[in-house]
Amino acid sequence: MKENRQVKIKVEDLTLIFGKNKERALQMLKDGKSKKEILRETNCTIGVNRASFEIYEGEFFVIMGLSGSGKSTLLRCLNRLIEPTAGDIIINGDNVTRKNNKELLDLRRTEMSMVFQKFGLLPHRTVLENAAFGLEIRGEEKDVREVKAQKALDTVGLRGFEHQLPVQLSGGMQQRVGLARALTNDPEVLLMDEAFSALDPLIKTEMQDELLGLQDKLSKTIVFITHDLDEAIKLGERIVIMKDGVIEQIGTAEEILTNPASDYVEAFVKKVDRKTIITAGTLMYEKPTAVRFKKDGPEGTLRKMRTTGLDVLPVVDEKNTFLGFVWLADAIQSALNEEPTVARIIQDSVPSVTTEATVEEMLPLIAATKSPIAVVEEASKKLLGIIAQSALIIEATRFNQEDIHKLKEQANNF
Ligand SMILES: Nc1ncnc2c1ncn2[C@@H]1O[C@H](COP(=O)(O)OP(=O)(O)OP(=O)(O)O)[C@@H](O)[C@H]1O
Ligand SMILES: [Mg+2]
Repeated sequence: MKENRQVKIKVEDLTLIFGKNKERALQMLKDGKSKKEILRETNCTIGVNRASFEIYEGEFFVIMGLSGSGKSTLLRCLNRLIEPTAGDIIINGDNVTRKNNKELLDLRRTEMSMVFQKFGLLPHRTVLENAAFGLEIRGEEKDVREVKAQKALDTVGLRGFEHQLPVQLSGGMQQRVGLARALTNDPEVLLMDEAFSALDPLIKTEMQDELLGLQDKLSKTIVFITHDLDEAIKLGERIVIMKDGVIEQIGTAEEILTNPASDYVEAFVKKVDRKTIITAGTLMYEKPTAVRFKKDGPEGTLRKMRTTGLDVLPVVDEKNTFLGFVWLADAIQSALNEEPTVARIIQDSVPSVTTEATVEEMLPLIAATKSPIAVVEEASKKLLGIIAQSALIIEATRFNQEDIHKLKEQANNF
C-alpha cells in the first residue's frame, strides 16, 4: 500500500556538522569514526550523520530519539533553517539544497510551517493577531489575513478567544494558537518539534487526538518530533529512531517492536506494552491448511490432520469463507458414522478477528474457548490465517514477568 504513495520529502545522505573544521570531520565520518572521536579531534559535533529516508504525502512521520540524538537538527535541515553540510533534500521533486534565498523564504511561507515546543507567541498581541502573524510578515492585507487566521483558529477549536492575550490562555490553548499560526498559510507540510512536550498529560492527550483528527481532515504531511515513545506510537504511521545523528531504524511501531534493528532500539522500546501494538496480522499463521467443506468429508479431514499433525483445522467454503473449526475426536466419530460431510461437527461459535486486532483485544477471546482464533477479512470473512492460543499467550507474556507470574498462578489453581 505504502509503495504506491507519493513521496513528499526525500532525504539523501544528509549530514550536518556543527563547528569550524567540517571538511576534516566529514572525512573522519567517512572513515567510520565515532561522534565522540570526531568531537575530540576536530571539536566538531555531528548533528546528523548520513540520514536517508522518504516521507510520503499525507503521512504522519515521527522522529524519536534521546536528547542530543539530532532530531531538531534533522528537522531544521528540511526547510534549511540550518544549512546541511552534505546531502540532498528533495521536496515535491525540487532539491531544497539548491534553492536561493527568495525561493527558500517562499518554501517556508507557503509549503512548510513549523510549530515549536515553546509556543513562540507574541505576548502583547491578541490570539487573532498571533495567528495572523505569518501572513503579516508575508505582506498580506489586514482583512485577508484576519479571515485566514479566523479560519485557522476555528479549525483548532479557538473560536471565541480571538481577542484574548496569550497569558489569558492555558498552555494547551496557547499551543493551539501556535498550531493555528502554522495552519494559516495552508502549508502542505507541518514540522512540529516537541510541540506537545510542555503540556500537561491530559491536555497533551487532547491535543494529540485533535491533531490526528486534523490530519484526517486536512491530509497534511506531518513531521513530528517527540522523545515520548507512547506519543510516537499513538501518532506515527512510521517512526524513525535516531541515535548520535544516525537513523537506527525506520518503520511502523509494530515493525520496530517485532523486529528491532539494533540493541539500542530494542532497549528503547522494551518498556512498551506490546499487547496494545502487536496485531493479529503479525501473529497469524498465514494460509493455513483448511478443510474444504464441499470437497473434504470426515475422511478427507482426517487425512489433512494426519499430514499437518494438527488436531484442529479451520473449515472454509469454496470461496474461502471461514465456517468454523473441526476437531480430531469429532472427525474420527464422524468418519466412523460414515457421515458424508463435516456439517454436524463444525464448531462455528468460535472467535474470529481481523488483521488489525491487537493481542490485548484477543486475549479475552481465548478465555471462553479452547479453539484457535481465525483471522478473516472484514467484509468477506475470507480466511487469512490462524492464531494458536499458545502463540497468543507467548506473545502476551513476552518480557512481562508480571503476566507470566499470573498465568503460573492460574495454572496452579487447576
Ligand atoms: N548550534 C549548535 N552548535 C553546536 N552543536 C549543536 C548545536 N545544536 C545542536 N548541537 C549538537 O548537535 C547534536 C544534536 O542536537 P539536537 O538539538 O538536534 O538534538 P535533539 O535530538 O533535538 O535533542 P533534544 O531532545 O534535547 O531536543 C547534539 O550533540 C547537540 O549538542
Ligand atoms: Mg530537539
